[in-house]
Amino acid sequence: MPTQPDHLSITRPDDWHLHLRDGVALAAVLSDTARQFSRAIVMPNLVPPVTNVALAGAYRERILAALPKGMHFEPLMTLYLTETTSPADIADAKASGFIHAVKYYPAGATTHSDAGVRDLARCKATLAAMATHDLPLLMHGEVTDPSIDIFDREHTFIETRLKPTLQEFPELRVVLEHITTRHAVEFVERSSERIAATITAHHLLLNRNHLFTGGIRPHHYCLPVLKREIHRQALLDAATGGNPKFFLGTDSAPHARHAKESACGCAGIYTAHAAMELYAEAFDSVGRLDRLEAFASHHGADFYRLPRNTDQLVLQRRAQRVPQELPFGDDHIVPLRAGEDIAFTLAS
Ligand code: DOR
Ligand code: ZN
Repeated sequence: MPTQPDHLSITRPDDWHLHLRDGVALAAVLSDTARQFSRAIVMPNLVPPVTNVALAGAYRERILAALPKGMHFEPLMTLYLTETTSPADIADAKASGFIHAVKYYPAGATTHSDAGVRDLARCKATLAAMATHDLPLLMHGEVTDPSIDIFDREHTFIETRLKPTLQEFPELRVVLEHITTRHAVEFVERSSERIAATITAHHLLLNRNHLFTGGIRPHHYCLPVLKREIHRQALLDAATGGNPKFFLGTDSAPHARHAKESACGCAGIYTAHAAMELYAEAFDSVGRLDRLEAFASHHGADFYRLPRNTDQLVLQRRAQRVPQELPFGDDHIVPLRAGEDIAFTLAS
């Protein structure tokens, strides 16, 4: 087992799955990500969704305009797949140079997914164009059938949606986003090089008991929902195992406090305030801090065929106390670990 260093210097990481929102929310959260990450794959689930190059270009400009002076950050844009996204939209996206993937939300699966896809069969020509133009498909991997147990929806998605799609489009490259189960880990491991998966910090650190510790915990509610401990262990093995198919994607998803502390609370966990520190804790818990750099800074860039970053990020083994809440426009966000310690701190 490697020793426990008191600091860790790694190639600056990228976040391959991030929600930045828009307007005052964007302004509130952007520097949390830009402080640590050089680039991020920016999710398109705004209202209305980012469905074409013009909307993605305008959103990109708003992100760059919201960046505090002196901070460097490159937003890697995505398009939101709908049943009317055309092969021409895909060709335009590829030609833009700033759109790097297309996001598939099953309609109704999660936050702002109403405009998503009800029947993937209606997207065949568009998926074929994505394969031709080598634009990866990023999948929210859950079925939406209310009769399927919520803890089984990822597994069922893999069997009934993902496998047939991969068979039909043998050239299409796919990222199964924010995987949460042993089944997903095993499926990705067994698949060809064109399949990869992102793993969040919260799914590495929490299991489904954390939803109900001493009462219902809305700030631990996300989708796909937290799973059993055996699944968390499988994710930890995958993330720390050195396999290039697994890479960092925080799925940091800010919601105002009142939207989560509600009779019908929104899905999403905010981790951008201390994402790398949280991942460092997870890797350290199994003595594998030495594998954090590849997971956070190499594998994703290689999959997306982008250059790896060249500057460094330094993490120190020094506890930080997370604030109870963070400003979010006129409201507040309750970040993961609010009021508690994280064992690592970013060196400034
Ligand atoms: O927990 C989640 N929150 N999962 C998602 O898929 C979407 C995200 C959001 O946008 O809030
Ligand atoms: Zn997401």
